Amino acid sequence: MRSVIDILDLSVDELEEMYRTAIDIEAHPEKYTRACEGKKLATLFFEPSTRTRMSFEAAMYELGGHVISVTGAGSSSAAKGESVADTAKTVSHYVDVIAMRHPKEGAAQVAADNASIPVINAGDGGHCHPTQTLADLLTIYKEKGGFDGLTVGLCGDLLYGRTVHSLIHALQRYKGVRFVAVSPTELRLPEYVKQGIDCVETASLEEALPSLDILYMTRIQRERFDDPAVYERLKDSYVLTPEKMELARPECRVLHPLPRVNEISVKVDDDPRACYFKQVKNGKLMRMALILKLLDEAERDPLPAAKPGVRTGKVCRNPRCICSVEQEPDFRFRTDAAGRLRCVYCEAVPE
Ligand code: CP
Repeated sequence: MRSVIDILDLSVDELEEMYRTAIDIEAHPEKYTRACEGKKLATLFFEPSTRTRMSFEAAMYELGGHVISVTGAGSSSAAKGESVADTAKTVSHYVDVIAMRHPKEGAAQVAADNASIPVINAGDGGHCHPTQTLADLLTIYKEKGGFDGLTVGLCGDLLYGRTVHSLIHALQRYKGVRFVAVSPTELRLPEYVKQGIDCVETASLEEALPSLDILYMTRIQRERFDDPAVYERLKDSYVLTPEKMELARPECRVLHPLPRVNEISVKVDDDPRACYFKQVKNGKLMRMALILKLLDEAERDPLPAAKPGVRTGKVCRNPRCICSVEQEPDFRFRTDAAGRLRCVYCEAVPE
């Protein structure tokens, strides 16, 4: 049985198969209306969401299944101090698959370690957001026909931007993909995301724009800042306007995971290169493809997957990690490509 915590949990071949399924669902929705009859999805959202939660729920309904939901930490026993591990063990008795969003990095991995059903990471703090990447990949696939050789600009909050981290992980597996990371100095990509990729960093969107096949804009995320004054200083760093779009190539496509605040002017929405509302539709289709895949696999292989990493006696002290709040955390680490130990939940290097 498999969970999807990181986009790398899905191989390139599996992603190709999922694009085909999603495109078939779009063309022939009637074929899928009973595909998940008798199955239930739990959406456990301990952080706000419009697209991810509603698209998971719409996806399950359109597959003929049912949905039960927790929205907001205040409405579940998390408010009484229940751990993610106990929540996952409990919800496993009610449903067939869990989609979970949580403000702490690695929360979905803890849920997967303790659930007896597949868990899908619907966003864990500033770490990963693999199903947003499924939406992004299908959009690029449809617009560009593939991924090899693309120059991809990533603009905004690249430090805490979990959608950016997952998109880089996905695209770095294709040939000749180059990244241009556009951010203020304080919000540069984390070092673990930059490992092994072809990437130039700049603070200038205007300088980057003419070279890009894809521009992936992101919001400066108020909720990730410890110091509100830093957010106030950085929040208007980038605003994409029709005037700036004149610097972009006719073939460039503009993506954004949404929600947006002010980083893309609404005047850009009518530009044929703007694809962010296409991403919304593609997100539902890819979540349908993912639910189908994981439920099918779980039926054939119901045994829980082994926990990742090993115990080393070290502890993770990252305050953003789920280990900082979980009772008796099971500190586990794996070795990265450079030979450093990293927490399996948040990827921090232990002290
Ligand atoms: N893109 C995305 O995750 O949107 P929501 O926060 O509305 O789910």
